Amino acid sequence: MRLGPILAAAAFATLAAACSPSQPSQTSGDTASAPAAPALSAEEKQKLLASFPAPYNTADLANGQAKFGLCQSCHTITPGGANMTGPNLHGVFGKTSASNPDFKYSDALKAAGFEWDAAHLDQWLAQPQTFLPGTKMTFAGLKDAKDRTDLIAYLMVETGHTPK
Ligand code: HEC
Repeated sequence: MRLGPILAAAAFATLAAACSPSQPSQTSGDTASAPAAPALSAEEKQKLLASFPAPYNTADLANGQAKFGLCQSCHTITPGGANMTGPNLHGVFGKTSASNPDFKYSDALKAAGFEWDAAHLDQWLAQPQTFLPGTKMTFAGLKDAKDRTDLIAYLMVETGHTPK
């Protein structure tokens, strides 16, 4: 199984999108057989984590998981998980904001039209209402930068993190 390299490539593709304005994604031709949202072993998760750019490569997944406890009352992250007060977050990285067709977003998020990547998520989680006035995500914010890094790394590992 050569899952690591495939996932690592996917991770970089999505994170690279954070730095460059939306370029058409290049098709290398050999991605068709990439598994969709594979269930990863703990070892594979650590490998995937190590492939992320800093500071995410050294994030503490256990702390990220603990911080996700703050989101769980409103969000699921499993594939096809329910929309609750907030939308299901599986595969959110690389997606345009407010793109879950079954969720009623605020006008503010619908109008925002950016792509979710680590940088946007970091600002969003620091203080959603400041980052996007008018959002209906009533979450006070996660003040500690290290907690945000750990949580974002956890989400990247757990939400499939397939590009687009
Ligand atoms: C009290 C409920 C609540 C909590 C807690 C909460 N959210 Fe949300 N979240 C929402 C709602 C509601 C929206 C939709 C916002 C809008 O439409 O303006 C949302 C939207 C989002 C989005 C945008 C999704 C998309 O499809 O564009 C992300 C990403 C997100 N939340 C991540 C998180 C994370 C990570 C946490 C934990 C730190 C969290 N949320 C905590 C309710 C919540």
